[in-house]
Amino acid sequence: MKYREIMERMDRLAAQPVKHIPEDVMGRVVAEIKKKTPKSAKMFEAARKVIPGGCEHMLSHTVPHPVFIDRGEGPFLIDVDGNRYIDYLNGGGPVLLGHNPPALIERMTEVLKKKGSFHGLCDEYETLAAEKIVQHMPAVEKVRFLQSGTEADMAAIRLARAYTEKKKIIKFCGTYHGWSDQLVVDLWVPHSGRFMANGIPESVTGDTVIVPQNDLDALRRAIEENEKDGGTAAVLVEPLGGESGTQPLEEGFHKELRKITRENNIVLIFDEVVTGFRVALGGAQELFGIDPELTVLGKIMGGCFPSSGALGGKAELMDILNSGIMSGGPSCFVAGTLAANLFSCAATYFTICEIERTNAIEKAAATTDRLVNELNVLFEDRNCPFFAYNYGSILHVETTGALHIDLTSEDGLARIFDRKTAVTNHQTFLRNEGLMTLMGKGFVTSAHGEREIKDTVEAYNRLLDAV
Ligand SMILES: Cc1ncc(COP(=O)(O)O)c(C=O)c1O
Repeated sequence: MKYREIMERMDRLAAQPVKHIPEDVMGRVVAEIKKKTPKSAKMFEAARKVIPGGCEHMLSHTVPHPVFIDRGEGPFLIDVDGNRYIDYLNGGGPVLLGHNPPALIERMTEVLKKKGSFHGLCDEYETLAAEKIVQHMPAVEKVRFLQSGTEADMAAIRLARAYTEKKKIIKFCGTYHGWSDQLVVDLWVPHSGRFMANGIPESVTGDTVIVPQNDLDALRRAIEENEKDGGTAAVLVEPLGGESGTQPLEEGFHKELRKITRENNIVLIFDEVVTGFRVALGGAQELFGIDPELTVLGKIMGGCFPSSGALGGKAELMDILNSGIMSGGPSCFVAGTLAANLFSCAATYFTICEIERTNAIEKAAATTDRLVNELNVLFEDRNCPFFAYNYGSILHVETTGALHIDLTSEDGLARIFDRKTAVTNHQTFLRNEGLMTLMGKGFVTSAHGEREIKDTVEAYNRLLDAV
């Protein structure tokens, strides 16, 4: 679905009254979940005593309590009470090959047995993994491994400043680039500003300039304004738009963005934490034919093994990260005891090999295309304004258009909260039907197939009955 159609449908949805699930139905659903998940309830009680809120996972459903997972298997999560869910959370994106893919698990078990998990010095797997990334990502000539997307974003903006000797960073409204101090501004909900920035001094976020997505004039104005106060070192972009395309980017935006940043000697940072190795082996930069100076990677490349993050980019910039800072010349310090550890690097190498071997990206995307098609047929047949769209295996099922309500409008905040309640209830309802979903956004794996499509469409059909 193209940008214009998505926006038209989104506006229509946002203008309509919210489709809430009636209270009595939700009461029944919550009672059923409680009955099915007694062990999770007990584990949650224990967790609450030692973990703030009892739950550390941003994606976890919390009504009536989080479910505790026993294991993942292919497209499924199985909770400690034995309930099975088709997983569309997939950890927020890293799971592309399905949960615990046997071939990858086998390779990684061999690595552990042969080499252990860590030795803290150079290892061949670092080079093998970097070579794979460089082979596939068109704009990446060199790679530095870190431990998360957040760290890689932090390194990217520091390096951009060291390279350009400029001060400001431009970030688009509603985008997410991890949780480091300077980037916790205007997360998820456009124009939400410092809403999430408790504990972060204003002086720290002061050099992060926020610009609305798709507004190239505003971008040009911000760059001009920044010239009066230290200049713009970098523009960070989620290449599919905020929240992996929940707030999509207009066709042609990337090319203009590239042109403007190049004309102004600004480092363009493609944050490919979600798109890298999911929308294509060469990420969104391959898809859109864009050549950013820096690329932020995470999640997917590490195949769900711990510590997955990397900064890639042009050699001219990346060489500044040379840790031999005493050798003179420009330098930029990044570090991390567990960064570039052999286990994570081996996981990256073997995951990319496995994605290549199994054509996982194309397979997951084809399944998502079919699912989107069937969901839209269902919504149309039942005359419901819900709609689905996808970017490869990144799935969006919009049931409220919550993020398209203007927060700055008179009752914007109240309307967004009302819609958030509705989506949360839709999510809880679908979980009771055996689907683990995430606020309208989801990720499909190469392990999902026809059976899962059919069960998913049937679950949505029952949601339509409920609303
Ligand atoms: C676009 C984007 N950038 C950065 C991050 C942060 O990555 P991590 O959670 O590995 O720190 C995320 C996480 O979801 C993301 O979606």
